[in-house]
Amino acid sequence: MSRLSIVIFGATGFTGKHAVRELVRVGKADSALTWGVAGRSRDKLQSMLDETSKATGEDLSSVKIIVADVGDEKSLKEMCSQAHVLVNCCGPYRHYGEPVVRAAIDGKAHYVDVSGEPQVMTAGLAAGVHSK
Ligand SMILES: NC(=O)c1ccc[n+]([C@@H]2O[C@H](COP(=O)([O-])OP(=O)(O)OC[C@H]3O[C@@H](n4cnc5c(N)ncnc54)[C@H](OP(=O)(O)O)[C@@H]3O)[C@@H](O)[C@H]2O)c1
Repeated sequence: MSRLSIVIFGATGFTGKHAVRELVRVGKADSALTWGVAGRSRDKLQSMLDETSKATGEDLSSVKIIVADVGDEKSLKEMCSQAHVLVNCCGPYRHYGEPVVRAAIDGKAHYVDVSGEPQVMTAGLAAGVHSK
């Protein structure tokens, strides 16, 4: 299966919606960029794409929707296996971050998040992942 350039996980949240809008903008100038959205509710992801399409005037009907839940390790790995870069907007990271980082490592995807959470940035998550 060929990988998408970018998958945004948590695309229905406050930060995720902003990331999707930015990707729509950037994608207009780069036809080689392929991307998808991921989250725990297909219906919610579809509604978010419909709203974004309406707001931007872009046809987003071909954007891939991936259903993945933090509580379902297999779904996270499958999601990460479909992305070159996984952008994680599913927070708070101190609660939900670690399984997603692990899945990105297992699924061989680059991992990016937007953390402003001191607990995650200083020690906890990174130390936990590297110690295993
Ligand atoms: N808000 C900011 O200004 C801001 C700024 C910088 C950084 N951040 C960071 O960005 C992260 C997200 O913040 P936010 O404000 O965007 O949060 P939010 O609006 O509450 O969005 C959280 C996202 O996580 C998803 N989610 C929650 N539990 C899930 C689960 N079990 N499986 C799959 N998806 C799940 C939610 O999906 P549903 O829609 O299905 O609930 C939603 O898409 C946080 O870690 C925060 O530190 C936020």
